[in-house]
Amino acid sequence: MQKFMWWALLAAICVTIVYFILSVSYLTHGGRGSLFAEQVQTEDQQLQRASLSVENVLSQALGSQRLQDSEEKIILFWFVPYGSDRTVPLEYLHETNNVTVNNSDKEIFVDSKICGNCRLAFDRKLISKSDAVVFYAHDVKWGPHEIPHNSLRQQKQLYIWWLQESTAKVPFRTKAVPDFFFNLTMSGRRSSGVHSPYSTLPWILKMLWNKKHGRDIMHFIAKEKDVKLTDPESLNKAIDSVPVNSFAAANTDLHQTNAELKTLLNYKKGLVAWIVGNCGYFPSARLRFEYADSLRKYGLKIDQFGRCSGVPFPIASRWDPSFNKVLSTYKFYLAFENSYHCNGYMSEKLWYNALYSGAVPIVFGPLKDDICAALPPKSYIHTEDFKTPEDLVKYIY
Ligand SMILES: *[C@@H]1O[C@H](CO)[C@@H](O)[C@H](O)[C@H]1NC(C)=O
Ligand SMILES: *[C@@H]1O[C@H](CO)[C@@H](O)[C@H](O)[C@H]1NC(C)=O
Ligand SMILES: *[C@@H]1O[C@H](CO)[C@@H](O)[C@H](O)[C@H]1NC(C)=O
Repeated sequence: MQKFMWWALLAAICVTIVYFILSVSYLTHGGRGSLFAEQVQTEDQQLQRASLSVENVLSQALGSQRLQDSEEKIILFWFVPYGSDRTVPLEYLHETNNVTVNNSDKEIFVDSKICGNCRLAFDRKLISKSDAVVFYAHDVKWGPHEIPHNSLRQQKQLYIWWLQESTAKVPFRTKAVPDFFFNLTMSGRRSSGVHSPYSTLPWILKMLWNKKHGRDIMHFIAKEKDVKLTDPESLNKAIDSVPVNSFAAANTDLHQTNAELKTLLNYKKGLVAWIVGNCGYFPSARLRFEYADSLRKYGLKIDQFGRCSGVPFPIASRWDPSFNKVLSTYKFYLAFENSYHCNGYMSEKLWYNALYSGAVPIVFGPLKDDICAALPPKSYIHTEDFKTPEDLVKYIY
């Protein structure tokens, strides 16, 4: 796997776990709000086959037994996320999510303020004690010996199908998994049972905030809005209600004065950057090259890096803070996904390469609806807002 993917995947795992914890505790708090309001959409037959309908799961999960905060909940990852070398993800989680890692026991304890009493586990022996078992979609393809034996399954358990990558690249059906094996889906698709995007705006802001202050923006928002961190429903509402530039009112330096903006713009010597390594091996990856070529044809100057151009990006490692620093010298970043109109799929290109670096993303691939739901207006440029590539080039110059 490419290095930059690692970084994105690790970040994704953190976002996912926080979302997941919030969702599980939301379930256990007995709510029936927006999280599960949308149904699995009919046009996606594959997803429907892969899981029971959300409505069904809801009534089952919320029906009779509501877990108490004091009850321990075990969330078992049947496949260790992203391979056998779990030391890296666990350490990363530890730093960013305030969880205690017990390597010797293959477990992570989550701050009780976030989740009543949660354990994230990787030890398959815990299967019958687990409240939820998470299967990463890519890994569910090796054959029946790789999924738990039917006799181990408990009625009240939720089996969860998890995917962070593009659905275009994942085999949905495999002989290993019978129909209705999964109770919930967890992915970037907004109608998933547990919505788990690659990243979110609050998360990016949190990372920027942390970078500057070594503090946690969730605590900050909770305090400002007078909600409890242990009340995910209110906390989510509070996060949603914070307009991006309202951080100014809170006297944080995420807000920029006109003078600061001027300095920032002076710092931006480049126009458009694009790092791309998948040189169009499948149809939708090829589409983005065609689009970029037509932008060039109408005069857009693009600094392209990566395998396909033969010009390596000056910073080799995604982990190196200079990676984003170099990108932040550009005004725009081509956040061109390798999947076209794949529901809910927005990758590290949008979140980390562009937004986290302070470069305005020029988006190609994701659905307009998904982008609108994720980002405030004027924080991105969507290629589909322009009739032709020529119009877009005119807009930029
Ligand atoms: C992590 O948890 C500890 C103990 O609960 C708390 O004192 C600390 O402020 C938390 N740190 C962050 C970054 O949330
Ligand atoms: C970590 O796991 C080991 C081995 O099971 C156990 O002895 C130890 O008490 C655990 N540590 C914590 C902090 O729970
Ligand atoms: C999960 O799905 C299985 C298989 O369809 C089903 O037997 C079980 O009751 C479901 N569990 C919950 C908690 O909904």
